[in-house]
Amino acid sequence: MSRRPILHLHADLAGASQALAHWVAARLLAALGQQERASVALPGGSTPGQFLAALAKQDLPWKRITLLPTDERFVPADHPRSNERMMRAALDPALRAGAEWLSFARGEPGLSPEAFAKQLAERVARLLPLDVVVCGMGEDGHIASLFPGEPQARLDPNVPCIVPAFPIGLEPRISLSAMALREAGEAALLFSGEEKWAVFVDALRLLHKPVTLIITENRRLHVFFAKRT
Ligand code: 6PG
Repeated sequence: MSRRPILHLHADLAGASQALAHWVAARLLAALGQQERASVALPGGSTPGQFLAALAKQDLPWKRITLLPTDERFVPADHPRSNERMMRAALDPALRAGAEWLSFARGEPGLSPEAFAKQLAERVARLLPLDVVVCGMGEDGHIASLFPGEPQARLDPNVPCIVPAFPIGLEPRISLSAMALREAGEAALLFSGEEKWAVFVDALRLLHKPVTLIITENRRLHVFFAKRT
């Protein structure tokens, strides 16, 4: 199969978000046609709010679906910097309809990022391989909390499915590993703006950014790009 991504180009984020929500819903239904439950990892950050809200409104058997973040800042779930706080608010209709939420938010205080990641990996391992992953992308080409040049941004089958990350100038992170993201049955990206488009094209050319970790021979990466945010 070709490694060339499939591009879904939209004029604005609203259009890309709706299209991605329909794409994810179709893939979850396809998975549920083959198995009892399905799982989807979803991005945090400032871009995906409209997408998450549109996904939560899809007519799906939510009781058979597990939702989880691709990564989380190592903060309590009610912290302003928490992805979970934003994501659970946007996904509320799906959660009310019975979707399972697998939290990455820091649990008991005093636990180190490393110890928490080890604990969480045992819970996430039961879901692998994930049926669908959707990632955002940073302006440095990072996905989830896999940052350029960091040890977490390498494919290593011996690394647990959840890794702690310590990006400079940011709070510690808890992230799905490169392998856990790469081995998902279906994968999509959602990002907007010309700057990020240039980063993505450059990454495709040189294959040197973490975003290319989710490009594989086994399935096509679907890229949902909005020209305007
Ligand atoms: C996070 C995200 C992260 C995000 C990118 C893009 O915790 O921030 O999971 O990987 O997807 O940094 O973020 P924006 O959408 O805010 O540009």
